[in-house]
Amino acid sequence: MSLLNILRYPDHRLRTKARPVVDFGNIIENFANDLLETMYAAPGIGLAATQVDVHSRIVVVDTSENRDEPHILVNPSLELHGEVLKVEEGCLSLPGIYEPVSRSQRIVVQAQTPLGESFTFAAEGMLAVCIQHECDHLEGKLFVDYLSSLKRNRIRKKLNKQQTQSE
Ligand code: NI
Repeated sequence: MSLLNILRYPDHRLRTKARPVVDFGNIIENFANDLLETMYAAPGIGLAATQVDVHSRIVVVDTSENRDEPHILVNPSLELHGEVLKVEEGCLSLPGIYEPVSRSQRIVVQAQTPLGESFTFAAEGMLAVCIQHECDHLEGKLFVDYLSSLKRNRIRKKLNKQQTQSE
């Protein structure tokens, strides 16, 4: 397993729309495990392939307290249910930025395993929010896109400054 490099906003590659996975098997499984390892090391609760510059429809999440309930979702599709609430979100591609975003509190997820088996499950609360956030990445969408352009510009300037300082 190996740690992958996470793209930082406003890197334009984060805007790439991911393609469906059609070839399942070991390569996808190994990549998903690298994604998980990178997410845990960051540390974060979710990571999309898009964020490591791989434009295939794969996301990983783990919102459990003990960090021992990983979900690997290949070709995920979501049905949104329940109340829409504003909850503060962050993103490994925007370190240190936290802003409230409106999300459905209950979802039904359809996805495949890295070996191509289909499964369905229901999620709620933080797990539901996290999965919606990660699936947005596959569309080239970031949580700051839900904010005003004024706020987004302020965030872009802040992150550019951080990156210049760390170089
Ligand atoms: Ni994110």
